[in-house]
Amino acid sequence: MRKKIVAGNWKMNLTSEEAILLFDQVSEKISNQKSVDVMVFPPSIFISELAKKSNSSIQIGIQNFYPKDKGAYTGEISISQVKNIGATHVLIGHSERRAYFNETELFLKEKVDIALEYQVGIVFCCGEPLEIREANQEMTYVKKQLEDSLFHLSSDDLEKCIIAYEPVWAIGTGMTASIAQAEEMHKSIRSWIAEKYDKNTANSISILYGGSCNAANANELFACPNVDGGLIGGAALDAEAFLNIIHSF
Ligand code: 13P
Repeated sequence: MRKKIVAGNWKMNLTSEEAILLFDQVSEKISNQKSVDVMVFPPSIFISELAKKSNSSIQIGIQNFYPKDKGAYTGEISISQVKNIGATHVLIGHSERRAYFNETELFLKEKVDIALEYQVGIVFCCGEPLEIREANQEMTYVKKQLEDSLFHLSSDDLEKCIIAYEPVWAIGTGMTASIAQAEEMHKSIRSWIAEKYDKNTANSISILYGGSCNAANANELFACPNVDGGLIGGAALDAEAFLNIIHSF
């Protein structure tokens, strides 16, 4: 059964005091939340402290890591260190990392493989830039992103992944994908998984929408049959807005 998930990607925002306050404000209000899995991806330097908070119903993930076991990689964080500080999930393939840090499909594949080896949950991001959408090439583009970094997995391993569709033109722009655009892509992603694997696998994977998702549009987006939740950027930095999104199901 696919899960309903609302995840907040805090990106490179907040002081440690602000991060703790935001985390506490959200976790206080969702302690009895059962129907939706809630996850946050804080800047890595805040994770240890947040993960130590007991009784929390929020899962904590990391925004980035380096796909080597350990060694001389100054400034990087390994997947075992990620686990060690209490993060249970990793973001892989976010468009900002693809664009600003030149993370290639092959590099993302390495990240996927090592995260699975260490049994850390994956939220794999895909999504097309504006020029690709304008050229009506978004289906081919997103399918290739999945084929190149994810579709080498066994169905058992693929089922451990969450997919987030984040059209690049909708990220931080206030320009959300329409309900029809979101549903069309999510349905296609599920059908590609069904073609490559089988229907059961396709139906067991949660596919989240990301890109200017907020308290005003989450309800409509989450009502789409193939949208299982959201990966939220800006609106996840405000406890009330994030809670409203969680309660949009
Ligand atoms: P916004 O919600 O700010 O558009 O960001 C989406 C995102 O990139 C989440 O990973």
